[in-house]
Amino acid sequence: MATKNKLITKFAAIDLESPDPIPLNKAARIIRSGGLVAFPTETVYGLGADALNPDAVKRIYEAKGRPSDNPLILHVDSTVQAENLVYVNDAAKQLMRRFWPGPLTLVLPARPCVPEITRGGLETAAVRMPRNFIARYLIWTAETPIAAPSANLSGRPSPTDAVSVYYDMNGKIDMIIDGGRVNVGIESTVIDVSNPEHVLLLRPGGTGREEIEEVLNMRLELPDAQSAKRSPGTRYRHYAPAIPVKIWHRESEFPESDYSSAGYMGLHEPPNETGKALIFADYEEYARELFASFRRLEREGYTCIIAEWPEEESGICEGLRDRILRAAMD
Ligand code: TXA
Ligand code: MG
Repeated sequence: MATKNKLITKFAAIDLESPDPIPLNKAARIIRSGGLVAFPTETVYGLGADALNPDAVKRIYEAKGRPSDNPLILHVDSTVQAENLVYVNDAAKQLMRRFWPGPLTLVLPARPCVPEITRGGLETAAVRMPRNFIARYLIWTAETPIAAPSANLSGRPSPTDAVSVYYDMNGKIDMIIDGGRVNVGIESTVIDVSNPEHVLLLRPGGTGREEIEEVLNMRLELPDAQSAKRSPGTRYRHYAPAIPVKIWHRESEFPESDYSSAGYMGLHEPPNETGKALIFADYEEYARELFASFRRLEREGYTCIIAEWPEEESGICEGLRDRILRAAMD
């Protein structure tokens, strides 16, 4: 399959009530033959390729415009499959039992079968079992772990619906599976369990830190500068729409003077009337809608986005704060 020529990207909508296996089997064949398929997970849409095929994985980096030292997550459909890819210790086993399938990614020492390009040249590899049925069916039918970053162009907000994938990836990948809107809306929590005495929180996300700490009966540590190097994804500005994002703390002044051309999002009504206000019922909905709202306000021509800072910091809010902060970075 040529990478430089524009591809015809196939689009298949799957009804989760009665999923049609034919397009899913076709997607699995594409993966097996070294192609790229975007598919839904419970967190965000992923851009998948056969994790054990270095040429296929190379195409992921090319399609996304992603630096090749930023390693990928290997998606599995069983813990046995994970154990064939990484060396699993007791702490990791406990976490798999409690949180898989679900939005928790575990970084562990890689077995030699994981190609260097998939792990970005590191000695470790990241594994996760997604909760979404389509994702797991695809891995199971393809009979190989699927390497998948979020299915956006590098630096853009992660896609939480198939149309957002289409905007970023049409003509660059072989197929998009439309499984509707995602449930969580921000990416999985990534923790490094390779040393079970010092478990590191590399990226907050869909699984709350407190729940993980309860299972391990210890506090998660934050990576120092040395280990931050080992999680290259946290080095880059991320998740950003093309227009500026400004943060509003509820107790302080509103940050933008020309409110009429600004789009706002948050749990509370804005103190000044903005061009558009997207109000969410709770933090779960804020997280679920965050990236789609970034893309929507950008598309509708607003000059900037004002995002309310989440007052809470536990559960989903740690990941939500992280994504808002990174989108607002200069
Ligand atoms: O929810 C998710 O995790 C989504 C869906 C598609 O599963 N995937 C996702 O992938 O967010 P991506 O590539 O956008 O982010 C993966 C993160 C990056 O920050 C990367 O640096 C980190 O995981 N990572 C992967 N392998 C690693 C490793 N061996 N050591 C440290 N960090 C690693
Ligand atoms: Mg990403």
